[in-house]
Amino acid sequence: MRTSFALALVLTACGTNPAPVTQPTDAGSDAAPADRGPMVEDFVTRPIPGSTQRPGDPARGYRALVNEGYVTCGVPWSVFSRAFGAAGASQLPGREGRNAMLPYNFTAFRNRDGMEVVSANCLTCHAGALRGRLIVGLGNAQGDFTQDTGVLARASRAFVRTPEERAELDRWIERVETISDYTRTLTVGVNPADNLTAILIAHRDRDTLAWSPTPLLEPPPPVVVPVDVPPWWHMRRKNAMFYNASGRGDHARIMMTASALCTDSVAEARMIDSYFPDVRAYIASLQPPPWPFMTDTARASQGREVFNRVCSTCHGTYGEGGAYPNLLVGLREVGTDPTLALGASQFSQRFVDWYNRSYYGEAARIEPQQGYVAPPLDGVWATAPYLHNGAVPTLSTLLDSRERPRFWTRAFTSNDYDPDAVGWRFTSLDHGHAGEPDLARRSRIYDTTQPGYNNQGHTYGDALSPEERTAVIEYLKTL
Ligand code: HEC
Ligand code: HEC
Repeated sequence: MRTSFALALVLTACGTNPAPVTQPTDAGSDAAPADRGPMVEDFVTRPIPGSTQRPGDPARGYRALVNEGYVTCGVPWSVFSRAFGAAGASQLPGREGRNAMLPYNFTAFRNRDGMEVVSANCLTCHAGALRGRLIVGLGNAQGDFTQDTGVLARASRAFVRTPEERAELDRWIERVETISDYTRTLTVGVNPADNLTAILIAHRDRDTLAWSPTPLLEPPPPVVVPVDVPPWWHMRRKNAMFYNASGRGDHARIMMTASALCTDSVAEARMIDSYFPDVRAYIASLQPPPWPFMTDTARASQGREVFNRVCSTCHGTYGEGGAYPNLLVGLREVGTDPTLALGASQFSQRFVDWYNRSYYGEAARIEPQQGYVAPPLDGVWATAPYLHNGAVPTLSTLLDSRERPRFWTRAFTSNDYDPDAVGWRFTSLDHGHAGEPDLARRSRIYDTTQPGYNNQGHTYGDALSPEERTAVIEYLKTL
């Protein structure tokens, strides 16, 4: 499975995140275009308006998600099977044909020329293992994007036998090599999807979606803004997609942008779009996994009181009669790492403009905001590490900012879960990347002094007494 996983990263298609417009329509404030450099708006916390979604069938959406070839190019099946043999059975139900024999995050399908190819699907980033169990919709917190993704791609050339295989493989390798300099993170476990989308947009004609080997827009800086993959079950409640509430309008249209590695024409995009309302309906039907251990109900009910007093204005209330306010919290207020919300990677104006004027923008819009959404907290026990950049390993350290480790590492296995601190078991270190000459070890250090990796802000738990904090954490386990 190890090799397959590495290949999955190589195959990985998408950044879901498209590109943006810096125009908070509902606030009337004049946000600074990201390209003109950081300028933080005054505190703006406001509800995010909802939008009508196309109806869809969740069961059909699941089947499409795990069987359809929405990432329309890949490695020829013949080459793939020579290189990887029996790659390892899928761990998922509902997989059809060859897919039943592939790892969950690969999909085999016939491409536009009738050739059978294998590509990575959304679950490369959007399925996560926790305590030995794979959970569809949980963000993958163990993905390794620190390597040059081109290496394995090029290695698979050795298994080519026919000119047709070579042509298909070369098309795919070209894409992978184009993105590889722009999708490397400094540390394992964080995700480059936002930068990935930007570089793909830079290589596509806005009107035809045709691929251009040379960039048509100035590429994003290769420095990747790290993000923690959010869980899909948030989409039951969220009015806008993405941490900065930029994904407006038709969510299915935005989600299908994740196929941008290979979608080379508007006709192809329309075909994918025809079944994405079903995929969206499936994603919006997901429920969070329940806390698998015991809870102290008396303490949890004390925690509920504290939560409703201190946290619920932003995060909402839970249980019967609960309401989620869909609040965008201004950067000055929440104080977490500002890089993403200030228009990094695909949230720069040129990518926003491209998106909103392209086929995708006909039904959806990207409107980046200078703040972060206060996310729904159901299933939060499972979504460590915390904050949009995954800078904080556990709920206990999130709710007491003095305890947050500056440099930390973890085992990156699904079993290093800590039910007491609620999150990943970690080791604090006395040095960051600068003090670690060993490259493999360095990539396993989360260094909060690196740009985009800061663990500051969200200090709302600091004033709680230790008893109140423990009680809130006990309550959060029950959501
Ligand atoms: C390379 C990893 C990767 C792949 C592949 C990927 N995504 Fe994502 N996805 C992300 C990241 C990272 C985010 C958060 C980005 C942000 O908010 O800035 C995200 C956000 C989302 C969201 C919004 C969640 C929220 O709470 O706002 C949805 C829905 C989504 N992706 C669906 C999909 C679908 C459907 C696919 C496949 C067609 C897909 N993604 C493929 C990494 C990925
Ligand atoms: C003023 C609004 C506000 C208040 C009050 C608030 N939060 Fe938050 N919270 C946010 C925002 C915004 C984020 C996202 C920040 C980011 O990702 O950079 C967040 C993120 C979180 C996260 C991380 C979620 C994840 O999956 O990464 C948790 C857990 C959380 N808050 C719990 C709490 C608790 C518990 C309280 C009360 C002690 C609280 N918050 C009070 C706005 C608020």
